[in-house]
Amino acid sequence: MSATTLAGGKYARELKQVEGIVKKSMEGASGRLKAMLDYLAQGSGKMLRPRLLILAAGLFKDKFSARERAELVHAAAAVELIHTASLVHDDIIDGAARRRGQVALHRRWGEGNAVQAGDYLLAAAFKLLSVKVRVPGLLPLLAETVRAMCRGELEQMKHAFDWQMTEKEYFRLNYLKTGQLLAACCEAGGRVMNASPEELAALRRYGAHLGQEFQLMDDLLDYAASSAALGKPAGSDLSQGVVTLPLIRLLQQEASYRFLLNKAGKVKPLPRKLTRILREAIAESGALDYCYRRAVRFRAAALEALLPFKKGEARRLLAEAAFAVTRQAVLLTGHRL
Ligand code: IPE
Ligand code: IPE
Ligand code: MG
Ligand code: MG
Repeated sequence: MSATTLAGGKYARELKQVEGIVKKSMEGASGRLKAMLDYLAQGSGKMLRPRLLILAAGLFKDKFSARERAELVHAAAAVELIHTASLVHDDIIDGAARRRGQVALHRRWGEGNAVQAGDYLLAAAFKLLSVKVRVPGLLPLLAETVRAMCRGELEQMKHAFDWQMTEKEYFRLNYLKTGQLLAACCEAGGRVMNASPEELAALRRYGAHLGQEFQLMDDLLDYAASSAALGKPAGSDLSQGVVTLPLIRLLQQEASYRFLLNKAGKVKPLPRKLTRILREAIAESGALDYCYRRAVRFRAAALEALLPFKKGEARRLLAEAAFAVTRQAVLLTGHRL
């Protein structure tokens, strides 16, 4: 999704405030921690999660009250901090060299320091939620979501080099890692607006399906896009033994590649020659088209979840987000899908 998607327009004011709160939450440290936080602040992401939270709230009202706006922007800043913390930790786990167009934090300051910086961001997020947001259920929702994300990363680590991994297991991990947080962002926006249980459930459905679509496209792009286009290393999932749908699909169709993988053993990174063979096989096998088609199904489910909400700018932008995720994949792969 491009940096400008969903930006500007009706919610520009709120998003600017969110950016300010995120930056402010990363100030106040000293020494090495300050250097790390300043560095992180230089490479900002797409801000998808705060946008979703605010847009979900926008489904309920054209104009927020001052109280609603204050709670929304602080909750939105908190979800961005949670997400950034999870990326700092994820890059250590995945041995990733780059993030958001910069050298990854752990590559610059070492893993121990990066773990602490990630924890600091998480604590900053929960401080905002406990001090600035007084919305019933919101703090436990996000705490539970972080726990699920941890389970997702741990399960993914358990499945490293598991060439028998099934589609079902893949989609479960996909949901725990990403669907959960996007569902929680949308639910959080609804909670600030005092939405009904049915509305909260529909918001979760939209967020979860969008999240699964998003993670699936991220996993596809890891095979199909360049590192320069992504701002993070392409090809890293396979070389680190992380099993995602493109590989699962190939192995379903051509089980003989499993033999090659088993022979290579559990070495990180996997030999370049092997990863090249597999990447070419995946590109030629139609596995990427299969992933794309599965993502389009998640997109359809996300769009359907929006139907009970009243038509308007927020609903239009949420629908547009679901289209932008798959469109981005087509653009970044040079229309090779
Ligand atoms: C990256 O998320 C991690 C995944 C869930 C695939 P984003 O692609 O939203 O990362 P930023 O925030 O824009 O860097
Ligand atoms: C998403 O998975 C990680 C988190 C939810 C923290 P990935 O490992 O695929 O994300 P990228 O590709 O490193 O951004
Ligand atoms: Mg990663
Ligand atoms: Mg990835």
